[in-house]
Amino acid sequence: MFAYRRIFWLCALLLCISPLLAQSSTMAATPPMGWNSWNHFAEKVTDADVRAAADAMVSSGMRDAGYVYVNIDDTWEGQRDAQGFIQPNSKFPDMKALAEYVHSKGLKLGIYSSPGPKTCGGYEGSYGHEDQDAQTYAKWGVDYLKYDLCSYGDIMRAQSHGDPQVAGAMMQQAYEKMHQALLKTHRPIVYSLCQYGTDASWKWAPSVGGNLWRTTGDIKDTWNRMTLIGFSQAGLARYASPGHWNDPDMLEVGNGHMTDSEYRVHMSLWAMLAAPLIAGNDLSKMTPETRNILLNKEVIAVDQDPLGKQGDRVSAVGPFEVWSKPLVNGAKAVALFNRSASDYPFDSPMSFRLKDVGFSQPVHARDLWTHKDLGLIHDSYTVVVPSHGVVLLLLKP
Ligand code: GLA
Repeated sequence: MFAYRRIFWLCALLLCISPLLAQSSTMAATPPMGWNSWNHFAEKVTDADVRAAADAMVSSGMRDAGYVYVNIDDTWEGQRDAQGFIQPNSKFPDMKALAEYVHSKGLKLGIYSSPGPKTCGGYEGSYGHEDQDAQTYAKWGVDYLKYDLCSYGDIMRAQSHGDPQVAGAMMQQAYEKMHQALLKTHRPIVYSLCQYGTDASWKWAPSVGGNLWRTTGDIKDTWNRMTLIGFSQAGLARYASPGHWNDPDMLEVGNGHMTDSEYRVHMSLWAMLAAPLIAGNDLSKMTPETRNILLNKEVIAVDQDPLGKQGDRVSAVGPFEVWSKPLVNGAKAVALFNRSASDYPFDSPMSFRLKDVGFSQPVHARDLWTHKDLGLIHDSYTVVVPSHGVVLLLLKP
């Protein structure tokens, strides 16, 4: 009798939580792809810029290549009304209408807030209004929330009296609070944690509902910052899986301060990392080369591979790094990066052995930037890789 009762309660519990489990496992089954306003427009972003980005995502072919989230970053927030509900500021006259516009293009809308009273830009945060804000986002038709620590860091410092464990627990509770608020809306909203990777976010972010979590401080449109962030991701592969992604920040491709070869390194490295591909440039003014980089479907396929495994470093000898990423059906992507700076200012031959990337038989190889089949590789492969450049290969048994 006692055993039956226990089975009954277990079944009842499973029935209750199964919709939530289904929701969290299907959301962000591959790394989210889209666009975010911050890297190019920063605090100047307006409703018109977001509509123009949505238009460009369709006309450029980005939507059809998988970029579906149109994400408004900081500085959209206005005041709260008498009941405490958040209003957008004058740059965003009608958020529901904007969401409808974005949805009418077959795209999804993302928004931004903070667990603190103020966002990083000094606008209204969600502190003390988490349920109300989640309800408002759902009412508007929001599909994605980036939740940025910002001023909650001050609250943690003040209330933890310098105890890092207390501060860490407070941070997790703050993220869990918004997670619960989002669940209560019954709307699938991708949850993007942004706290710059502090306290090894990758170890606990999934337990507070994170579909993606920043692993680093902010990216900049420079070779040094991009490579510092990107290559620092070695060793994090085991924390990524369908629905749960390490996020080394948004793309800078096309923002103008790196060469096209450097942007190919950026795109290749993010694909090897199964990183979210969130473009951060002005989509209405893209050069043909920026389009070619963001829209390289073979590189996107490496990022979006349904196996959902992040790649990792195989070797690093000075500035020469080889990375590999497991793909479905026993295939692998292999990237040869030449990070050489002023002490190695030249294009250089680079090699790898098949056995170093886990193959014991010959494989078919394809170059994913030149789009050329290279035939069978037997034991090893050597290719000249330009300085600040990459060769990205798809290897199939
Ligand atoms: C932080 C985040 C950035 C951006 C800004 C907005 O710096 O890391 O990605 O959202 O805040 O203020």
